[in-house]
Amino acid sequence: MKVLICSSREAAIDRAAGMVADYVAAHPRAVLGLATGGTMLPLYQRLVDRHGKGHLSFAEVTTFNLDEYVGIAPEHPCSYHSYMRDALFSHIDIDEAHTHLPLGNADCVHQEARSYETRINTAGGISLQLLGIGQNGHIGFNEPTSSLGSRTRVKTLTETTRSANRRYFPADEDTPRYAITMGIGTILDAQNCLLLATGPEKAQAVADMIEGPLSAICPASALQLHPSTTVILDEASSANLRLTDYYHHVHPNGEETRFD
Ligand code: GLP
Repeated sequence: MKVLICSSREAAIDRAAGMVADYVAAHPRAVLGLATGGTMLPLYQRLVDRHGKGHLSFAEVTTFNLDEYVGIAPEHPCSYHSYMRDALFSHIDIDEAHTHLPLGNADCVHQEARSYETRINTAGGISLQLLGIGQNGHIGFNEPTSSLGSRTRVKTLTETTRSANRRYFPADEDTPRYAITMGIGTILDAQNCLLLATGPEKAQAVADMIEGPLSAICPASALQLHPSTTVILDEASSANLRLTDYYHHVHPNGEETRFD
């Protein structure tokens, strides 16, 4: 796992956005795995800015999002479909037919989950998977104790996750209890993973992911098994790491070295 610790939240976001942009520029037909959450919003804004300046095209890119709430229609303002439209898709030149999210209001959500796996495979698999991390160590909506080999399926959300995401829903609306999410095994199949975490509330999950035991209690720790994962952090989210000096030594200011 490559651990890049940046001096500020802004620097971490710039770094992650720069990596995604460079990847798309080098691989115009990339299949991107996309994430949602507050952390990703400024990253998507940076991609939109680059596109607006004519520096980046998504015309041939295909995307698969990690997850969607069960029982929420794509048109619902709090759906991840809406999030992606508002944050990214409607501002860039991507072909909407090449953007994929699980359908949370499908007649049979289990069938929808299975067919999502098939769609990913048919597209040739994910080449770069973007990830955030939940305060309890979840990736996608793979809550603690998710099977480390799991595939796309329906997961019951924890109360921690529901309360963290409550701020995105109107006060009079209950937050969803279930989601369709790529499994941890699905995520590990991506050729490359890029996880961005910022802020002190992620510090313990980040430490458990990078240095903790490989364990279903911290689903993100499964990334220790992945051959090409880069984690981009700010100082606050890296605060609980034990080997910080080493990470700074290997990647001063979060920069790549000549061995990367
Ligand atoms: C949700 C998403 C995750 C995301 C997490 C963190 O639970 N399913 O993919 O990583 O939120 O969100 P935030 O960036 O808002 O902390």
